[in-house]
Formats: sequence, structure tokens, C-alpha cells
Amino acid sequence: MTTMRPSGVRRRILEEHRQLATGLDQLEQLAARLEQEGDAVIASAVDRARDFYEQLREHIDLEDAILAPALREADAWGEVRASKLEKHHRDQRIELKALGELDVETTDPAQLAARIRAFVQEVREDMRHEEEGVLSADLLRDDVTSVDAEGG
Ligand SMILES: [Fe+2]
Repeated sequence: MTTMRPSGVRRRILEEHRQLATGLDQLEQLAARLEQEGDAVIASAVDRARDFYEQLREHIDLEDAILAPALREADAWGEVRASKLEKHHRDQRIELKALGELDVETTDPAQLAARIRAFVQEVREDMRHEEEGVLSADLLRDDVTSVDAEGG
């Protein structure tokens, strides 16, 4: 992979956040349908939720691939920020795996709807947190050359 400039990393991740936000709105509508229509829509709901989990998994892979290295270059706290991001992504992968393995036969529509709603809130919160923190324009600036932690 060619090295992206910090501003390019930022643009790319923010663009994906916009796409994910659309997906989250759709998931929320899905939860509402589950609550109204119950078992009739559970199989398609699980399918569509799984598609979103896959999309999110690809997004966190991208963040690990381009955002974490950009953070490490950004400043003296880059290593800490990048490690936290990667740790959070490891936890998210575990959660996504558990969500994806849900059994359609035994799942209660109302429970699934509640789970989807909680998940939607959590991902929205995560994205907001990232946008204010690790994705801020202050942090991902093109004019910062790599900082030597010892040098200063
Ligand atoms: Fe993100």
C-alpha cells in the first residue's frame, strides 16, 4: 500500500463513516419492522444485520491498516492512541462474531430488535468518539513530520 497523507486517511475514514451511518439508519428501521412484524421478517433481518456486521468488520480492518499507522506518526501520544484503537477493534471483532452467530430458529424478534438497537447506539457513539478524537483535523495534519518520542 502506498502511504496516504494524514488528510487522505481522514477523508477516507470519514467517508466510510457516512456510509456506515446510512447502514445504521437502515438497521434501526429493521428493528422497528421486527417489533411490528415479528417472526415473518426475522430471517431477512438477520441476513441484513449480518451484511452490516461484515461492512463494519471491513471498516475496522481499514482503520487498523491506515488510521493506526497515521496515528503512530502523528505525535508522541500516537502509539498510545493507536494501541487503544486496535484493542477496541479486537473487542469489536469478538462482539461482531457473537452477533453474527445468532441462531435464527431460536431467536425472539423483540430480543433481536433490542439487540440491534443497542448495537446501533453503540456504533454511533463509537464513530462520534472517533471523529472528535483520533479523526480530528488537528491530529491528522499533513504538516506534521514524524515526531521522535525521545527527541521532542
Ligand atoms: Fe471508524
